[in-house]
Amino acid sequence: MPLSHLVLLAVMMQAQSAESPAARDARMAWWRDARFGMFIHWGAYAVAAGTYKGERIPGIGEWIMSRAHVPIPDYEEFVHRFNPVRFDPDAWVRIAKDAGMKYIVITSKHHDGFAIFDSKISRYDIVDATPYKRDALKALAQAAHRAGMRFGVYYSIMDWHHPDAQGPNAPEYNSSTWSNANFGRYVENYMKPQIKELLTQYPEIDVLWFDGEWIADWNDERGRDLYAFVRGIRPTLIVNNRVGHTRQGLSGLNQAGQIGLGDFGTPEQQVPPEGLPGVDWETCMTMNDTWGYKSYDDDWKDTRTLLRTLIDVASKGGNFLLNVGPTAEGVIPTPIVSRLHEMGDWMKANGEAIYGTTVSPYGRPAWGRYTAKRGKVYAHVFDWPKDGRLALTGLPDRPLAASLLADGTPLTIERADSGFVVQLPRVPPSTIASVVVLQVGGGSGGSAGSGGSIR
Ligand code: GLC
Repeated sequence: MPLSHLVLLAVMMQAQSAESPAARDARMAWWRDARFGMFIHWGAYAVAAGTYKGERIPGIGEWIMSRAHVPIPDYEEFVHRFNPVRFDPDAWVRIAKDAGMKYIVITSKHHDGFAIFDSKISRYDIVDATPYKRDALKALAQAAHRAGMRFGVYYSIMDWHHPDAQGPNAPEYNSSTWSNANFGRYVENYMKPQIKELLTQYPEIDVLWFDGEWIADWNDERGRDLYAFVRGIRPTLIVNNRVGHTRQGLSGLNQAGQIGLGDFGTPEQQVPPEGLPGVDWETCMTMNDTWGYKSYDDDWKDTRTLLRTLIDVASKGGNFLLNVGPTAEGVIPTPIVSRLHEMGDWMKANGEAIYGTTVSPYGRPAWGRYTAKRGKVYAHVFDWPKDGRLALTGLPDRPLAASLLADGTPLTIERADSGFVVQLPRVPPSTIASVVVLQVGGGSGGSAGSGGSIR
């Protein structure tokens, strides 16, 4: 390796390791407190909406180009028809904010290679290649900031459109073994310049969420370079672990059971049974069975499942990035809006037990979950005991006080053979999860909070 490369490598490795724990905590602070965000998958696949040449294509909607072997010129037709005339960025942000979400991460460019931002180095973008001609990403970023929400972008390393990546010269779009001899050119002349555009044209971006890193031409060396590159442009940036090549399947972990590169792990469509102790992580999940819009996918999870998943994630020290797939016209489908609205109702009354909380210090009780904050433990009761007696499983000491979070009703605590028991009213405040606030002495609640993250 030439000396210049060695020097570069040393600088790159320093960028990943030089940050002090305190500086890292400061950079991650808003993200750790947020706990709940909106993922948005939106692009030309929403035009196809799961159907190609009259045939319903199985699988996730944003993969239709690969699943149906759509030739590039045919797929470009979807792009030419992408005209989200009903896109209202403030309305999208309002839906997210009312649900209690604190940040939004949207696909700036998915595997299909089409960019929904104004890219100067590519004409395969929303401004140059669609009748819409406007920069939707900019509009959404600005709307998010107006509403006090954080903003991030997803960017696919794999690219089914670019000739130097997995485009016209590849035998198939998605391959983990085929290699493009010109891939380095794609990285230096296209991908990094596009990412630089994102980080210079959009000051709102706080999170870079990479994906499509399993291709043969990607590796951890490239990942380290990319990580140093993006943090070099914006030092406060938070980057997911798919910047590296190490992820095995949907767990978001590498073979050693670690998140590998980047700042946080990305379990997909699953909540790790024990969380991911010692590291930051975020579970991303669909509300039906697709990320990108499919007109006929009605397999919606109910509000109870979604909320309990959020609580489960928070109790294990993670974030929950819940996906929305808007239509090609720019509308978030009604089943999504109604569920998010119901989640928002619960969050308005109980958000204190989610935001800024840390991993449960007392394991997982049979009736629900615990979250914690300094001096407080929140008992999220899924199954309201018929006899009105809530056994505080795992609590070593008698809490100083107990009350219902929803309305402040004080509750009595008794000592029983099995430990401590809170006497509950007959009717639960919520059929999904009722929160009992336990005041705990000094350190016991919050101090255990180091669990979910590196702190
Ligand atoms: C997968 C899919 C992709 C989706 C992503 C979300 O990696 O390839 O379509 O965007 O998961 O986590």
